[in-house]
Amino acid sequence: MTEPIQRPWWQDALIYQLYIRSFADSNGDGIGDIEGIRSRLGHIASLGADAIWLNPCYPSPQHDHGYDVANYFDIHDEYGTLDEFDQLVAEARDHNIKILMDLVPGHSSQDHRWFRAALAAGPGSAERDRYYFRDGKGADGSKPPNNWQSAFGGPAWTRINEDSDDGQWYLHTFAREQPDFDHTNVDVQQLFVDIFEFWFDRGVEGFRVDAVAGVGKHPDLPDQPPVGPDVGVLDITWVNPYIAFRPEGHEAWRRFRTAADSYMQRHPERELMMVAEAYAVRRPEIIKAFTEPDQFHQMFSFDLMLTPWEKASIERAMQDPLAILEETGVAPAWTLNNHDIQRIVTRLGREDAHRPESWTNNNLALSRAGVDTDLGERRARAMASLIFALPGSLYLYQGEELGLPEVFDIPDDRREDPVFERTGGAEIGRDGCRVPLPWDDDASSSYGFSVPRPNGSVGEPWLPQPAGWGAHSVATLEGIPLSTLHIYRKLGEARTAYATNQPLTADPVELGAGLVGVRRGSLLVVVNTTTEAVALDMNNPELADAQLVFASEPDEVDTPDMIPPNSTLWFTT
Ligand code: GLC
Ligand code: CA
Repeated sequence: MTEPIQRPWWQDALIYQLYIRSFADSNGDGIGDIEGIRSRLGHIASLGADAIWLNPCYPSPQHDHGYDVANYFDIHDEYGTLDEFDQLVAEARDHNIKILMDLVPGHSSQDHRWFRAALAAGPGSAERDRYYFRDGKGADGSKPPNNWQSAFGGPAWTRINEDSDDGQWYLHTFAREQPDFDHTNVDVQQLFVDIFEFWFDRGVEGFRVDAVAGVGKHPDLPDQPPVGPDVGVLDITWVNPYIAFRPEGHEAWRRFRTAADSYMQRHPERELMMVAEAYAVRRPEIIKAFTEPDQFHQMFSFDLMLTPWEKASIERAMQDPLAILEETGVAPAWTLNNHDIQRIVTRLGREDAHRPESWTNNNLALSRAGVDTDLGERRARAMASLIFALPGSLYLYQGEELGLPEVFDIPDDRREDPVFERTGGAEIGRDGCRVPLPWDDDASSSYGFSVPRPNGSVGEPWLPQPAGWGAHSVATLEGIPLSTLHIYRKLGEARTAYATNQPLTADPVELGAGLVGVRRGSLLVVVNTTTEAVALDMNNPELADAQLVFASEPDEVDTPDMIPPNSTLWFTT
């Protein structure tokens, strides 16, 4: 018997990302809610989750579905109440599941009382200092203070009170309904300390911290240098040297860490964590800077999420995160999906998914190549079987365990993502990965998403579900022995049995053309990225006395030395 390895829970945790609006609706209004989560905790527990990361559920006018927070100290009324939230924390704890909240430090909602007060207070006021208010350019101030572009398309500035003397502009890195906070302001600094105390006191164990790349700005707000024609409309912000990855941001993260550490000193039984979200693919220096010991505990590694289905690219995607782990001891936060990115089944099912150059096609901008979702689902299982074995924590996005594809047939007038509107429809946005989950095959209750109202009626789900959605439902997949749902559950079990009891290290292993090999202690994982079954060389010393313990396509494995196409095997040696 090996001794269980002692390390902070979050270093090697399985975390279920829960997009509350689309998870489960308990009162038939077509919008997911906290009671819905409580009624489905068993499902999350069945995957072996250690924690839930809850997308923002604070009061919000929902212009960016909660990423526009009007009040950081309450629950959005469509989702429930603080009491219900407290009960969720308690019930989740009964399942050994912790709750992480989503913290949005970069901006508030335009409906936040501070922003309203700033509008009322006028130029030069203390109220305006909490945000970035500036006079416009030109004789009448009718031109924006600089040329910055918003990450959702369009200018990053909006003018207020156009017809009065007070025609100032305010900065918003995202939508105009999301005014940016100025973290050099002491009120803003104190606000975030108060937020931490408030939610830690309620039993929240940490935060996913949103969009850290854009927090902190060059103090002079200079014009952005010209960008090349190859920079996509949604990327202009992220190549703006005065917005993206500014040193000023790190001052804020140090204050955040101090707040969390101070709480833990006062509550030594707690093990709090914060994971930073920013797209730092192939930029290990950035991940290192954000996970200095005085800043975030972890930062997402999006490399594997965005990689094409090809040996060298997958190896490359693991390289930086694993090198950082070896160098600094900071374990990666792996993920294959989230609420901002096309679902992996669709991405890896594309005809061009195996081309190394499709790295760039796999971001928010759509590759138009045809999609084979059966193939994509198979590759998604194979990829999940890789990340479940790796050292570090892993974040599953709701619906991934059902093999959900991206939904494209959403009518324009039902699209909700501000990206769609702000780009004039040039980018369809992120609604397709946010469609409400199917729980059963009953179309009359939105496939089990909604519990009918007392009079038996069911409101339209907030985003339309495609016909046949029930084929992906939990109830349907329960009845199919080797469905993606069952494979994910088996993966969770295999992870506990063979992966998390290993050291926090992993090394690439060369096993042959088209095969990605990784060793973690006595666990050896092999991914076959080719379209053919491949014979493993059992004389390779890496495979000496290898015992097959998991397969992503178990019904196709006749002998352990033949690895089926587009699949993954786990061996212990
Ligand atoms: C992050 C979130 C995204 C949101 C944006 C602005 O990227 O994941 O959903 O729109 O930040 O807050
Ligand atoms: Ca509801």
